[in-house]
Amino acid sequence: MLDYIQKPHQKQTVEAIWRLEKLILDTLDFNDVVQSIVDGILHELGFLKLGYRIVVLALVNDEKKVLERIAISQTKEAVKAVEASPMPFQSIDIPLRANKNLCIKVLKDHKFSYTEFWPDILCPPFTPEKAKAIQEKVGIKTSFVCPVRTKQKTIGVMIFSLVKEFSEISEDEKELILNFTDIVGLAVQNAKLYSTVEEASHRLKKANHRLKELDVLKDEFVSIASHELRTPMTAIKSYLWMAINKSPQKLSPQLKKYLDISYQSTERLIHLVNDMLTVSRIERNKIEIKKEQFDISETLQLVYEELKISAQEKNIEFTLLKDKDKKYMVLGDKEKLREVFQNLVGNALKFTPNKGKITIAFKKDKDGVQIAVSDTGSGIRKEDQSKLFKKFSKIDYSYTKHSSQPGTGLGLYISKQIISLHHGSITVQSEVEKGSTFTVNLPQK
Ligand SMILES: Nc1ncnc2c1ncn2[C@@H]1O[C@H](COP(=O)(O)OP(=O)(O)OP(=O)(O)O)[C@@H](O)[C@H]1O
Ligand SMILES: [Mg+2]
Repeated sequence: MLDYIQKPHQKQTVEAIWRLEKLILDTLDFNDVVQSIVDGILHELGFLKLGYRIVVLALVNDEKKVLERIAISQTKEAVKAVEASPMPFQSIDIPLRANKNLCIKVLKDHKFSYTEFWPDILCPPFTPEKAKAIQEKVGIKTSFVCPVRTKQKTIGVMIFSLVKEFSEISEDEKELILNFTDIVGLAVQNAKLYSTVEEASHRLKKANHRLKELDVLKDEFVSIASHELRTPMTAIKSYLWMAINKSPQKLSPQLKKYLDISYQSTERLIHLVNDMLTVSRIERNKIEIKKEQFDISETLQLVYEELKISAQEKNIEFTLLKDKDKKYMVLGDKEKLREVFQNLVGNALKFTPNKGKITIAFKKDKDGVQIAVSDTGSGIRKEDQSKLFKKFSKIDYSYTKHSSQPGTGLGLYISKQIISLHHGSITVQSEVEKGSTFTVNLPQK
């Protein structure tokens, strides 16, 4: 290795630099990179044998406005110098305004320089006497200071301290050092970027972890709050029902109107609390599906009977189309699926104007049953259809003649989750002002 430096050859120089560059660029951790920079030139390029003893990398800290010592080579002279220093190596900061310091000069002039007098590179923060004493103790004759550049600016310096005179440094050594310090700039920048990304990703991981914890807390809060709300609200609803239907005195029309509104509002609140509770269970994976084989058309018959009166009030032609002799067997949770269809038919009733039509139809195939709930209501724009199954997905109907309807926009989200837990599917087909069809496929087994 020494050979090609004593008898320099362009190709070998380039190869040596390339080896060192690869070593440095392959290292990602910032501390490892700067250490291989200061050690590499002595050991990889054999400069130790050429009288180079201490290599130091110092970088600008823009915030503190100082040139900070970052890394020092691991040689016995370096150990001696550090031991003799009145302050730890990493604290030897030079203020950027210390214009007499040679390192700062090199930094500002962007040109290399040298000195045979250590106070030039160590004052401040050292006193000239202390700097000189350390130099003598270590036995350094010359220090060669080179700028470390990136494409945009000079970011620091490298100090090479030798046990020989400046005049003994060959042109090839100089050239190699200058080529090397050019790579250093790039390597330092890469390592800094990598460390920043690492740090950011570490912070993101922590933040994400915290968010997950908060999410669990939120779900627990929603779950407890909903439970606590449900009991008193059910009591209110029962007493309101008694007041409306079982009052010993005849209610004045005005009072009856107030009580009716209170009753409906309480019903809506209970519905909302139940939905919130279901969403919270879904999100905590706490929802339980009790699977049994049953005829889904019977469930829809119950939903039909329950909502028939609302359809009549709106003069809606409401039909349940099923083959009486057929059974439409599915494997699933009767109660949860009933909630799904209560919502689908409930939606159809809300968004279909008076004198419209709502139809529930069944189809059987080898895998299971298909249930379609169709209406002749407002319809849903193509661009809104993808939002439907998300949480709080109320659609703006200002583009239609239909007015907005009560609801929280949780029903379809819950429906989709329940159907997915059954390994089924739910899809929508819709045309504005013509109507919508929600189709559910449920497996038989
Ligand atoms: N048959 C339909 N026709 C037109 N729009 C519909 C129909 N079904 C659902 N939508 C639209 O999708 C939105 C979401 O429906 P979803 O059932 O999730 O919520 P909601 O009925 O508003 O409230 P919730 O069901 O929670 O009480 C509705 O607000 C409505 O804008
Ligand atoms: Mg709904």
